[in-house]
Amino acid sequence: MGLSIVILAAGEGSRMYSDIPKVLHPVGGTPMLAHVVNTARQLDDVRVLVVYGHGGQTVPEALSHLPVSWVEQAAQLGTGHAVQQTLGYLEADDTVLVLYGDVPLIRAETLQRLLEQVDETTLALLTVHLEEPAGYGRIIRDEAAQVIAIVEDRDASVAERGIAEVNTGILAVKEGILKHCLDALENNNAQREYYLTDIIARCVAEGLRIMTTSPDSPVEVMGVNNRQQLAQVERHFQQRQAACLMQAGVNLQDPTRFDLRGGLHAGRDVTIDINVIISGEVKLGDRVSIGPNVVIHNSIIGDDTSILANCVIEDAVVGENCQIGPFARLRPETELQKNARVGNFVEIKKSSIGRGSKINHLSYIGDTTVGCDVNIGSGTITCNYDGANKHRTEIGDRAFIGSDSQLVAPVKIGAGATIGAGSTITRDAPADELTLSRAQQQTRTGWTRPVKKLKKES
Ligand code: UD1
Ligand code: CA
Repeated sequence: MGLSIVILAAGEGSRMYSDIPKVLHPVGGTPMLAHVVNTARQLDDVRVLVVYGHGGQTVPEALSHLPVSWVEQAAQLGTGHAVQQTLGYLEADDTVLVLYGDVPLIRAETLQRLLEQVDETTLALLTVHLEEPAGYGRIIRDEAAQVIAIVEDRDASVAERGIAEVNTGILAVKEGILKHCLDALENNNAQREYYLTDIIARCVAEGLRIMTTSPDSPVEVMGVNNRQQLAQVERHFQQRQAACLMQAGVNLQDPTRFDLRGGLHAGRDVTIDINVIISGEVKLGDRVSIGPNVVIHNSIIGDDTSILANCVIEDAVVGENCQIGPFARLRPETELQKNARVGNFVEIKKSSIGRGSKINHLSYIGDTTVGCDVNIGSGTITCNYDGANKHRTEIGDRAFIGSDSQLVAPVKIGAGATIGAGSTITRDAPADELTLSRAQQQTRTGWTRPVKKLKKES
């Protein structure tokens, strides 16, 4: 006797005006449907069935990693018809909970509360009171306040349309009752669809009791039918995440201007300024400070490191007490060790920068191993690409690279070496020596500047 959760996700979502099936549109960087599956899996002893249809195999292929069974609804003939497709997969005595792939903010606690009301004699329904109930199925109650039916908006009388209590669509019922009620569904309604909601009146006729529960906030049952609703759901989702982070001690300068599209693990006393976007899996150590307009993807940032304004950091590992930016870009496979500094307009790719080394201005460092306490002068470029292949540059500990130098890879700069400013280095430079490649500076005494020719008078 387990719990089967049926998630309806076969609809087209025509009002999205999109080539992507609606349930694949992301909320917080993750497809809406994946949020619902993740929430469903928080419940104990659960089996998840997803009904897909519009877009063919697109949805199951995009989310093939999810631990669910996929059930096809080839033609979308209504929510009741969608649930019917799963009957063959359900086990006798299962409790069946119906969720929706386009209602992504539902919380497991709410579902748990709903499930507590299900037994052999009841159907549990999640309802909500809305100031503007237009578009939703209305909950019809008798004089004793018992639910007796749901009437869809398009089938409702004027009086019924005035009812503020609406159907969220989310319900739970025993498998035997569900099967029995679905067998009798008809489609004689305004949309010529087999409505899941019609099982309510049927249950009542069979002497079952409809139990209702509401979510703590109507936000949990907000559905996404168009781009405006998608943006609203996104904001609510971000607020929820921001609240969790602040509760855990993260200092967000403005929680309404923070976006997390993935997972963030933050240490103590982390400060995050406005308009920061964090995606993938990011780990921030203790006392990390992130300036405004910073984008961080799949990276680890060590304790006490500061990231100043306008940096973009992707697939990088940054050690303790580093300073990055403003306006720096760390590309994939960059590693900065403790106390390193990367300043403005510096791009680093697939390189490791040793302890205490500095690359403070206007540089490109790619495919390079930089030792400890190295100083890379302004405008240094590692020429790592010959047009066909990439080559590595190695720079030893305590080396000093003069400004505006080009290191043409493959090339090694020895420990303690100094490279004179403006050099183009094409061969290895020995340790502890000064190496430079420059045309000799000349001074021509007596040289005069050209003067403008006078036009001849005609
Ligand atoms: C449904 C409810 C309505 C409720 C509202 C809450 C019915 C008949 N009505 O109306 O009472 O207030 O949800 O949002 O159930 N779907 C399928 N296969 C289908 C049809 C729909 O998988 O054949 C999926 C859709 O992808 C969607 C969900 O079921 O995610 C709801 O379907 P939709 O047509 O949007 O129902 P509503 O008119 O919103
Ligand atoms: Ca809908």
